[in-house]
Amino acid sequence: MNHSFGSDNHSGVAQEIIDAITEANQGFSEAYGQDKLTTKAKEIFKRDFGGNSQAFFVFNGTGANILALKAMTNSYNSILCPNTAHINVDECGAPDKFTGCKIIALPNKNGKVDCNTVKKELKGFGDQHHSQPNVLSISQPTELGTLYTKEEIKSLAELMHSHNGYLHIDGSRISNAAAAMNIPIKEFTADCGADALSFGGTKNGMLIGEAVVFFRKELSENFLYIRKQAAQLFSKNRFIAAQFIAFLENGLNIRLATHSNEMAKYLENELQKIKEVTISRPVETNAVFAIIKPELCKRFQEKQYFYTWDQETGEVRWMCSFNTRKEDIDQFIKDLKGLIEN
Ligand SMILES: Cc1ncc(COP(=O)(O)O)c(C=O)c1O
Repeated sequence: MNHSFGSDNHSGVAQEIIDAITEANQGFSEAYGQDKLTTKAKEIFKRDFGGNSQAFFVFNGTGANILALKAMTNSYNSILCPNTAHINVDECGAPDKFTGCKIIALPNKNGKVDCNTVKKELKGFGDQHHSQPNVLSISQPTELGTLYTKEEIKSLAELMHSHNGYLHIDGSRISNAAAAMNIPIKEFTADCGADALSFGGTKNGMLIGEAVVFFRKELSENFLYIRKQAAQLFSKNRFIAAQFIAFLENGLNIRLATHSNEMAKYLENELQKIKEVTISRPVETNAVFAIIKPELCKRFQEKQYFYTWDQETGEVRWMCSFNTRKEDIDQFIKDLKGLIEN
C-alpha cells in the first residue's frame, strides 16, 4: 500500500522505536516485567504522572480500555460514554463482556459529552433494580479528533467523584492531544482528576504496546491478576518497555504527534480550497472529517484508501500519521481535483 489516510494504524513504526527494540535484543533477560527495562519504563511514567501513579503495560488499546474499566467496576455497575466512543462501537462488545457492566451510550457533540448530559444518567443509586453508574469514559482526543479542554475534563471528573464514581480516559491518541494542547499529558489527565488513563503508543509510531495508568492506588491493587486473566501479560515485556522508554524519555511521542497534527492542518487548509468538500468537524488533532458527494467518494476510494465514517451522511475520515509527508497530501489533493475536473 502507498501512503494511506485510512488510519494512523496503517502507518509503520518510527525508526527510533525499531532501534530501541534492536538494542533491547541483547542476550537474556527476566520475563513478565521483572526486567530492568520495564523498571525503567515504569519510572518514566512516574516521572511524568507523579509518585502516586502506577503504569501497567498491555498489548493493545482495546485491552487497555477493558482492563482499566474492569479495575474500576463490579458487574452491577454501568459505564457511561459518548455513543461515538470506541468502547461502545468498535470493541465488539469486549467492555460489556469483560466487565459485565451495562454500557450507557450518551448523545454528544463532535464526540464530546457535557456535564448536563452525564448528570441525567447519574440516577438509580441504591435502587436494587437499577445498574449503578460508576464510571464515565471519555476519549482524548475523541474519536472525531476533537479535544476536551482542561476545564471540561475537570468538571466531568468532579461530577463523577461527587457520585462516588470514576473518570476513565481512553488516550489511544493521547500524545496527539498533548501536542495540540501544548501541555504535559499529566496536566489534562491526573491533574484534572482523571482516575485512569489508557495510554496509547501504537497509533503514534510504536510497534506494539499501550499502558494503563492509574492515578489512585486502590484501582491498581489487583491489576496484576486482572491483566493476567485477560491474557494481556507479555512474557518478553522488555520489548514493550524499550519502546516506551524511547517514546517518552526525550519527547519522541510529542515530536511524532506534532508532525501528524500539523499534516492534518495542512490537509484541512488544502481541502478548504475545494468547494466540493465540506469539513464537518473542527480539526484539532490528526483527523480530518469531511462530507463529499457519494459518487465522488466512490471514485476517490478507487485511488486513495480511506473509510466512509457514516454511510448515512456520507461523512469520511482522513487520518494523518507520524510519517505522512506533505507530498502525500499534495498527491491526495491532486487525485481529488483530477476526479472533480473529469
Ligand atoms: C479511540 C480509540 N480507542 C481505542 C482503540 C483500540 O485500539 P486497538 O485497535 O489497539 O485495540 C482505538 C483503535 O482504533 C481507538 O481509535
